[in-house]
Amino acid sequence: MFLEVKELSVSYGAVDALENVSLHINEGEIVALLGANGAGKSSMLDAISRIVPAKSGRIIFNGADITKEKPENVVRKGIAHCPEGRKIFFDLTVLENLQLGAYTVKDPDAVLVNLEKIFTYFPVLKDRRKQKGGTLSGGEQQMLAVGRSLMSSPKLLLLDEPSLGLAPKLIDQIFEIIRKINFLEKVTVFLIEQNANEALLHADRAYVLENGRISIISDNAEELLKNPHIIRAYLGG
Ligand SMILES: Nc1ncnc2c1ncn2[C@@H]1O[C@H](COP(=O)(O)OP(=O)(O)OP(=O)(O)O)[C@@H](O)[C@H]1O
Ligand SMILES: [Mg+2]
Repeated sequence: MFLEVKELSVSYGAVDALENVSLHINEGEIVALLGANGAGKSSMLDAISRIVPAKSGRIIFNGADITKEKPENVVRKGIAHCPEGRKIFFDLTVLENLQLGAYTVKDPDAVLVNLEKIFTYFPVLKDRRKQKGGTLSGGEQQMLAVGRSLMSSPKLLLLDEPSLGLAPKLIDQIFEIIRKINFLEKVTVFLIEQNANEALLHADRAYVLENGRISIISDNAEELLKNPHIIRAYLGG
């Protein structure tokens, strides 16, 4: 298995965000993690990229136990995290923001190759490369955040709500690019979404988190779109 999360628990003081959650991701998949506000979705990604510690449980990536690994070593091993709310640097240019995504890459030529590749996926970032991050539109900022996370040539990309706050046309565009990156660059994608409709259209499989526990596991993401519970809870039906 490519990524295996075994009985993971995450707490913030007295708040239990995840309780004994197990899931896995196979190489090459796009897997969605759905759930309402506060369900524990971001905590899952934060635990995988080691921004927050696991209280118990294990995280295995590509055969290596990364449960206690340093965050920068997790990046070196091939996991990139595009966090919730974009978190780009407003005072740095687009180019500088992208270069920061490559802080684990030692070879300057590899950085240039990656940069050109990202500019082909996101031409708007090339046009705006000298502009300060804070002056980009919301959609452009989201593209920058995704582009930056690709600068380390990840094998696994963790995306925390890439569609948040974007107009429908831009949401489609972002998901198209995510699919292309998955297919052409062979990047496995673990995707958090509140926009269940969009996520399930593009994902191979899906998990649903409810109050820190997995409530649904689906091998066919599209079928979940017909699930009455999902429709009630996440599709406003
Ligand atoms: N740093 C923190 N300190 C204390 N509690 C936290 C912290 N981060 C998250 N929590 C709590 O943990 C729970 C899970 O939060 P998490 O951010 O993982 O949810 P989420 O599913 O990503 O929600 P959203 O869809 O709103 O982003 C929530 O109850 C939240 O209040
Ligand atoms: Mg979140």
